[in-house]
Amino acid sequence: MLKVGVIGVGTVGSAVVEILEANKDMITARAGREVVVRRGVVRSLSKARAIDIALSTDPYDVVNDPEIDIVVELMGGVEGPFDVVKKALENGKAVVTANKALLAYHRYELQERAGEIAFEYEASVAGGIPIINALRDGLSANHIERITGIMNGTCNYMLTKMTDEGVDFNAILKESQALGYAEADPTFDIGGFDAAHKLLILASIAYGIDAKPEDILIEGIESVTQEDIAFAKEFGYAVKLLAIAKRDGDEVELRVHAALINRDEMIAKIDGVMNGVSVIGDCVGETLYYGPGAGGDATASAVVANIIDIARSGGKRSPMLGYNTPLEHGLKLRAPQAIVSKYYLRIRVEDRPGVLAQITQLFGEYAISIETMLQRPSEGGYANLLFSTHEAVEGNMQEVLVRLESLAFVASAPVMIRIV
Ligand code: HSE
Repeated sequence: MLKVGVIGVGTVGSAVVEILEANKDMITARAGREVVVRRGVVRSLSKARAIDIALSTDPYDVVNDPEIDIVVELMGGVEGPFDVVKKALENGKAVVTANKALLAYHRYELQERAGEIAFEYEASVAGGIPIINALRDGLSANHIERITGIMNGTCNYMLTKMTDEGVDFNAILKESQALGYAEADPTFDIGGFDAAHKLLILASIAYGIDAKPEDILIEGIESVTQEDIAFAKEFGYAVKLLAIAKRDGDEVELRVHAALINRDEMIAKIDGVMNGVSVIGDCVGETLYYGPGAGGDATASAVVANIIDIARSGGKRSPMLGYNTPLEHGLKLRAPQAIVSKYYLRIRVEDRPGVLAQITQLFGEYAISIETMLQRPSEGGYANLLFSTHEAVEGNMQEVLVRLESLAFVASAPVMIRIV
């Protein structure tokens, strides 16, 4: 019998307990032994719960219990869970976590501490989609050329609603929080941080890159408006929050931002709260993974899969981040300012002679070449100028944005969306 302790018996934790019970016979057969949840940890004991396991409020009741074989960490946060998980490993317990923020900061230290002890984290990226398994094991023969992910259900839901129903950003944010997919602090979703945490985990498996959130380009969807959506529709694009990892020579680009993508791309068709990840390998070509990236049962499906895997593996495991020895010719993280992209810009300006000429002059100074341009009238003597550009260097574009904002005839901060 394998004994499990669940730290954080909330939506996902309860679903883990329920799935282990509901699918018990099949899970026992697949695992080769019975799996039983012995203990759970909750924030407050006063709340009524449907599950019937011993509960306490102290995570160390689980990690220090000699009976427990596997600690399932579903606490949320970074430093608190890091201490708890370190102690669990020190006590020789296998660990399963869904905590992407913890891994975004501490995955290499955890790998080091885990050593031969099982440490699994399938649910941390794209919830129920087995993307860790696919990338680490199924695609291990490949150099990974590129990963393009829609890995935040909240943002995808919001952008889909804004596109299909013309709903305003603020109205739809409240609705998506009510759906229960959003992080406790929704700025993690709409600011791109949640997707970035997931991207960093995938980048370690794909490229052996040890980057932290602070090292990469992270932007959210806060500035996307109906005007941008209308432009996207007119020019055949979908607007998505993308997480991108791309190898170019010995460098890897990692970035999260709103993006205009061609509506014909398969990833552009992933709508609503669903997640999708495209992985291009040098041997296999493009593979695409689609499914629910959040929600109790979907996330618990990945957690329970890890528990079964630990039960059946008898100590023989894949290395946590996929490498048994370091990459001989390691890849480097490309500086965010050196990224090359095409751009869409929306600039609200006074509608008077000479304005357009000054803007295009500025573009020229920074080697930014315009591909298309539209002018839309706006109220009060203003106009919206909408540009798309040929490929340009990110650092140059950032400087142009600062210069544009300082011009007297520019009415508000210009909006920029990268075209992928
Ligand atoms: N807040 C996340 C999302 C949940 O919206 O996708 C899963 O990490």
